Amino acid sequence: MFVILCKGYAELSQQSAGIVAAAIRKRPDLRLGLATGTTPLGMYRELARMHREEGLDFSRVVTFNLDEYLGLAADHPQSAHAFMQNEFFKHVNVAPGNIHIPDGTPSGDLDEYCAMYEAIIQRAGGIDVQILGIGRNGHIGFNEPSSSLASRTRIKTLTRQTLEDNRRLFQESQAIPEAAVTMGIGTILDARKILLLASATSKAAALARSIEGPVTAHVTASALQLHRDVTILADEQAAAELSEREYYSDPA
Ligand code: PGA
Repeated sequence: MFVILCKGYAELSQQSAGIVAAAIRKRPDLRLGLATGTTPLGMYRELARMHREEGLDFSRVVTFNLDEYLGLAADHPQSAHAFMQNEFFKHVNVAPGNIHIPDGTPSGDLDEYCAMYEAIIQRAGGIDVQILGIGRNGHIGFNEPSSSLASRTRIKTLTRQTLEDNRRLFQESQAIPEAAVTMGIGTILDARKILLLASATSKAAALARSIEGPVTAHVTASALQLHRDVTILADEQAAAELSEREYYSDPA
């Protein structure tokens, strides 16, 4: 794993956007896995700026989002669909037909729907670069503790901690979804390159357990240790509990 220690959130956002932009310039039809959450917001803003000011072209990029709340329709303001539209897609030129986000209200059999999402990724040729955030419990996507490290897209019940973390995003009167459709750990590990972004003190313990602890379904980001091309970008707060900080920051 390649750990990049960033001075702050702005640097983390710029560096991650730079990696994504370089991948798009190299392969204009990049298959890009995307994440919701507050952490990648700065990266999305920087990519939008590069589109506006530098002509970074997303017209052939194909995107796949990690997850969606079960029960939220695409037009629900707290859905991943709405988040992605507002924070990213409406600022760049990804073709609407190239955007894939799990449906939170699929009609018919849920297992069949999840298998279909997997099949769409496969048919596109797999994900080239997958962006990830990390939860306080070490989750990636909504793969909560106990997720099989071989799991594929499926429904996952959210933990109490994740529900609490999500509460700030919902109005008081709104019910918070208790489950999500999420790519599995196996799905994520199939991506050719993985970029995990971690910012703020609240992520420090989870990040240390993920990078320096044992591989365990209890901290699902630890499964990234099994992948051959993972880059982790962490700001100083998120990196605070890493015991090998000095080694990671050695430029040699
Ligand atoms: P956050 O969420 O970026 O909003 O902190 C990350 C996650 O829970 O995966």
